[in-house]
Parts: sequence; structure tokens; C-alpha cells
Amino acid sequence: AKNNFSQWEVKYAYKSPDCFKKLAMTINGESPGPTIYAQQGDTIVVNLTNSLPTENVALHWHGIRQIGTPWSDGTEGVTQCPIMPGDTFTYKFVVDRAGTYLYHAHYGLQISAGLYGFIIVSVPDGVPEPFVYDHDRSIILNDWYHASTYEQATGLSSIDYRWVGEPQSLLINGRGRFNCSELAQSRAIKAHHDFVDKPPPRSDRVIVLLNTQNLIDGYHRWSLNNRSLVLPHTPYLIALKENFIDAFDQNPPPDSYDIHNYDIFSVPDNVNATSSNAIYRISFNTTVDIILQNANTMIPNHSETHPWHMHGHDFWVLGYGMNKFDKEKDPATYNLDDPIMKNTVPLYPYGWTALRFRVDNPGVWIFHCHIEPHLFMGMGIVFEAGVEMVGTLPTSIMGCVRS
Ligand code: C2O
Ligand code: CU
Repeated sequence: AKNNFSQWEVKYAYKSPDCFKKLAMTINGESPGPTIYAQQGDTIVVNLTNSLPTENVALHWHGIRQIGTPWSDGTEGVTQCPIMPGDTFTYKFVVDRAGTYLYHAHYGLQISAGLYGFIIVSVPDGVPEPFVYDHDRSIILNDWYHASTYEQATGLSSIDYRWVGEPQSLLINGRGRFNCSELAQSRAIKAHHDFVDKPPPRSDRVIVLLNTQNLIDGYHRWSLNNRSLVLPHTPYLIALKENFIDAFDQNPPPDSYDIHNYDIFSVPDNVNATSSNAIYRISFNTTVDIILQNANTMIPNHSETHPWHMHGHDFWVLGYGMNKFDKEKDPATYNLDDPIMKNTVPLYPYGWTALRFRVDNPGVWIFHCHIEPHLFMGMGIVFEAGVEMVGTLPTSIMGCVRS
């Protein structure tokens, strides 16, 4: 295993990936950023300098579980303070499994601004690959908007709400053609799968998450069981390790909602939806099921697909279904034999998705819709597991914490 070192500078540059010229967020002048090529077992070291004049940044390694290094997960507000303009932060972690992964910003709408790229991890020397193939091509698809992400963020977070709308073009590895917006929508997501492990036959805890779009104090938000995620100023990982109990709401959010009395086919009337920075506390070394339940949005007869992504863990996808999840009947339909293992899964309109995972990675992790404006509007949960087993935190993640 080697050290794989990169020196990266995040900055704005004019780009015209689809002929329309606008400022894009780049790494060393490129969007997508440089591809990291590594071998399983390598240690990736990225020295990231934030040269954006007025914006913070944080970079997440999507699909890398960060075993033993939860502070390198790059989730602003969860695992680190943001990297401020002019500052340099070092990410250091091991790529423990071969595969093709993404890295991307985990702050504001910076993926949409162009801050993403590939991590390609090959098998160790002498280990055969599990599949035979003639060619290997890696593809990242990304929605590309001509409006600035500031304008979009303002529209999303104003009482005078404005949705980002359809992208002007789709980029394939950072290139697109203006006026190809007829194509199907796609998102910058990537799954890793594994064909070996079977899920445990039962779980220790079931968390049902009702996905709703709500108005909270007049603002458009997404909620899970009536809680809309807002991240605290002090990242959870730091707050929990240092025992800052004032940093976030210590009452955990609910494990379910009143399914019998909720009509998933109507515009919600969730008068009790609130913004919250509370987190789930999950016992280490247990098996947890999460049932994602979709519902109608605030538009009549309208429900959307949400690609849900988990940090720090992979999960088995046990099943999908339409309508309301039935906790008596639906678990009998689960695939416990050969379910796919991945870290991103769709929740279909008016449907449910069931997943199971082993809570085996100490840290604080976010689980969220990967549509960036949806996360921005609160569509995620955070959970802690085994945080007492996390080693000494690097002080470099604590830039925003007063001592
Ligand atoms: Cu690809 Cu939370 O991210
Ligand atoms: Cu979503």
C-alpha cells in the first residue's frame, strides 16, 4: 500500500461545458476535478486549499466508509468545520475496497457548481477482478444549471420560494450540449455493490421515515417524520466527543410516524413539522432496518423520486413497494437471499424502500437524499453509533469551534 498524495486548490473559473459561459467551481482549474487513481489499501492524502474568495468548502468521498477516520468524511456540520477561504485542510483516509467512487462537495449547492470528480480504486497486485470485460469507462452524469448556485440557494431558502427547476443541460464527464434538456434526469450518484455478504435474518431496530414536503414558518422544507434537518454550527462529531451538549437538540427524533392516520396521496398538512438538528443514537454492532416512505409533495397528485445515500456504511436493499408500507405484510416479501448491497437507493413516487445495515463503523454519519437542493431543504437524518470508539479527533477539523 502506498500513499497517494494530491495538492488541490478549489477556485472559481469561467467554464462553458455546454457553450454557456459561467463561473464553475473547479479543482486546480478543472471541473470535474482531477481523478484519483489508487489501489486498494492505499492511503489517499488530499491537501485542499480553499481559494474561493467568499465561500467555505468541504469535500466528501462518496462510498468510502472512512473506517477509523470518520473525521475525514468531509460532511460540513457533521464531521468537520467548513474549510474557510484561504485555509488548507488535509483529508487522509484508506481506500479499503476496489471500485469506482465519486468525490464531491458537501456544502451548500457546490456539487451543482461543479465540485466533483472520480476516485478509481483498482484491486491489489495479483488479485483477479471479479468480472471479465473488454473495456472500462467511467461516467459521471450531472445536472447543469445556468443560474448561479447563489441565486438557486436564495430561491430555495426564501419564503418567496423558487425551485431550481429543470437543468439547462446534462453533463457527461463535465461536457454537455445546451438544449438537450429533453433527456431523462440523472444525478451524480454511484453505487458500489458486493455479491458476497448476506444480510442478517432480522434487525434489532426499525426506523420508518416518512418523506414529506412541508411549509415551516412559510419556508419550503423537506421533512422526515416531521423533522427537517438543519446542521448545527458545531459539527456533531466534535460536539459528541467533547461533550458539548448545548451544540444540538439532545432529544432524538421519532423512529416512526403514525402511518394509519397519514394519507400519502394528499398534499400534507403537517402543521407540526419543525426544523431540527436532533440525531438518532444507534447502538453499535446492531442491525438496523430503515423504511423510507414516500408521499405526496405540496403539489396535488405529485410525488418524486429521491435517491437516498448513506455515509459510512453500505446497506442491503431488502425490497420496494408501492403505496403505504405495511409492517405486518411487507417484511414477508423482503429479499434476504441475495439482495444487492450498495450505498444509494431510490425511493420511488408514492412507494417505500426497505434497507438493512450493520452498524459497524464508529462515527457520526448522514443519510440523505442526494438531490442537492433537497438536502439543502432538510431532506436527511444524522445518526451516531459507537462514537466513544472514535480515536482522538484531529484539531484541523475544529476551525469553527471555540475552546
Ligand atoms: Cu455523495 Cu452525502 O453524499
Ligand atoms: Cu429528494
